[in-house]
Amino acid sequence: MIYKLIKKAFSVSISQAIEIGILILNDDYFFNVKRKRPEELFGSALEYFNNETLSSYAESKSIMRTQRKITMRALEILELKENHCVILDAGCGPGFVAMYLDELGHKIITLDIIADFLKFYDIKDLNPILADMCYPPFQPSIFDAIISISALQWIYKDSTLVKMGLDLISLFKSFYTILKPKGKAIFQFYPKNKAIMDAIGDIIAKNTNFHGNFVIDNPNNPKKRKIYLILKKE
Ligand SMILES: C[S@@+](CC[C@H](N)C(=O)[O-])C[C@H]1O[C@@H](n2cnc3c(N)ncnc32)[C@H](O)[C@@H]1O
Repeated sequence: MIYKLIKKAFSVSISQAIEIGILILNDDYFFNVKRKRPEELFGSALEYFNNETLSSYAESKSIMRTQRKITMRALEILELKENHCVILDAGCGPGFVAMYLDELGHKIITLDIIADFLKFYDIKDLNPILADMCYPPFQPSIFDAIISISALQWIYKDSTLVKMGLDLISLFKSFYTILKPKGKAIFQFYPKNKAIMDAIGDIIAKNTNFHGNFVIDNPNNPKKRKIYLILKKE
């Protein structure tokens, strides 16, 4: 079942028709999450992930399991045609997603803005690169896929801030360029509200030739809800 969210090729697909009704009628209900997320409380990931939070994140078995589970679902949505793809893990943190993709046989390049994450475990084989994912330092057309799990909400959390809009434009334009033809990108993230999703869809439609849509799992259960953005290069 598809709900057209944005012009061009953008849509939200969710599993049950009744949930689409709720989505259209009541956006507040849809996004009514009481607990504030870290990106709402801290200016940037660099501020939030200080020594203590970084270690407790990187050492958490339950976060590791969750990141792997989300990645499994992202791979289902991505529908990669082979098992040996060249994949960028954008916002890799300590490497939970990347280690899993590596186990599956893909060739991984990991990228994060926090140096201590890249050093927490020995992930030299996963080609760690310290960089801002809005300005990725790669040649054109080198990745079959880009996977970004639980990172995009740090980059775009307020659709009224010009700087965030410019960073996001750069991110999507760069991702379009560094993907091979027919390459795909998938983001799982935690947008604060529907305005953010609308603005993201608009930015993509206006600045790139990506086709894509949002996929929302468990839309009516804020604790279990997961939002994915899948983008395909022409
Ligand atoms: C919640 S963690 C997710 C980590 C990862 N998916 C994993 O497997 O554990 C979000 C990550 O996004 C990274 N991040 C946030 N903003 C970024 C940016 N502009 N460029 C690169 N990484 C960024 C943070 O440093 C953090 O490691």
